[in-house]
Amino acid sequence: MDKPQWLCLSRLLVLAPFFLVRSTSASHQREALHPVVLVPGFSCGQIEARLTEAYDSPSPLCALRKGGGRWFRLWKNSTALQDLPNVSCFADQLRLVYDPTAGNYRNVPGVQTRVVSFGSTRGFLSDDPADKEICMGTFVAALERIGYKDGEDLFGAPYDLRHAPAAPGLPNREFSMFCRSLMALVEHASTRNGGRPVILVSHSQGGLLALEFLNRSPLAWRRRLVKHFFMASTGAGGIVVAMKGKGLAARDGGDVLSMRRVKRSFESAFAGLPSPAAFGHETPLVVTRARNYTARDMPGFLAAAGLPAVAVGLYLSRALPVALNLRAPLVPMTCVNGVGVPTVERLVWCCTGTATSTRSPRWRTGTATEW
Ligand SMILES: *[C@@H]1O[C@H](CO)[C@@H](O)[C@H](O)[C@H]1NC(C)=O
Ligand SMILES: *[C@@H]1O[C@H](CO)[C@@H](O)[C@H](O)[C@H]1NC(C)=O
Repeated sequence: MDKPQWLCLSRLLVLAPFFLVRSTSASHQREALHPVVLVPGFSCGQIEARLTEAYDSPSPLCALRKGGGRWFRLWKNSTALQDLPNVSCFADQLRLVYDPTAGNYRNVPGVQTRVVSFGSTRGFLSDDPADKEICMGTFVAALERIGYKDGEDLFGAPYDLRHAPAAPGLPNREFSMFCRSLMALVEHASTRNGGRPVILVSHSQGGLLALEFLNRSPLAWRRRLVKHFFMASTGAGGIVVAMKGKGLAARDGGDVLSMRRVKRSFESAFAGLPSPAAFGHETPLVVTRARNYTARDMPGFLAAAGLPAVAVGLYLSRALPVALNLRAPLVPMTCVNGVGVPTVERLVWCCTGTATSTRSPRWRTGTATEW
């Protein structure tokens, strides 16, 4: 997500006192804390990978770790990403493909992945101090100052940034696993803290996942175990700037996530797109010389951006129903948004008219599609 979005995070700090149960004695403060579970922003979950012999490496360098059986850090490996040849390996191993037989997104063949440190806030991109800051680092420090301890009453729910909730009923392995893990974590956090209900705090893309998680959990469960849901900056409903990343202006940047081929392959790329339920049917979000696009015109926009029909179909079948089903989670909830934070509300194409490329999908393995 864009930089200005992160600025809102500092506003979370003003919430810290809220988390204390009213307590008469300072010495009992620790016992009186409600457990807190954090769901961080888009790029904060770390992913480890290992390569099996089935990995069809694009170069000898990318094949180096093949078959070794050892897990290495795929995202975010700051060291490896300094080195340009390595970046293309990471790009190849990080991208997803859609498997029409399974009806689901998956890794490219031969790449196995897992999310690191689920349950803890320690794994939120902790290698690089700058990353730590955008991944709730200051907020975690503030909670620790009022007595919270990781693993005791403070927990983290990192996720694989590439995946997203799909319409209920469709194969959606990664998000289903995330929901099961988060449910167990919330129950554990509560049990460990005298049965007190949990405060869920999300940031950015984490809000979209947390909201879907809550809405798909049994109502009695969430009412019993969730005291409050704080959604900080850019949750459900989408953001206009996601159309820029996805579409007409997408071009390769220096880092692996901004590579078209990588970013466009993520199911999560559709999840951030503006929902017609939040942005209405009339406001033009993208203005070009030839035509304007509202949130409802997303399929046309995606096609104009060069995505093949199969990808637009996945937006329609998997992402759009989730976006249209935007609703309150029926637990006490607070949305925290920045004031005076520059936010993209409309994208204007001044000079090019309509679409960029009309690349057709490339079939790589015969069973999976990429674009
Ligand atoms: C990051 O990648 C480098 C080079 O590709 C590798 O040697 C290193 O082990 C990786 N880091 C981690 C933490 O796995
Ligand atoms: C697109 O939207 C802009 C801004 O609202 C408006 O001025 C323009 O006339 C619209 N263009 C078309 C082709 O509808």
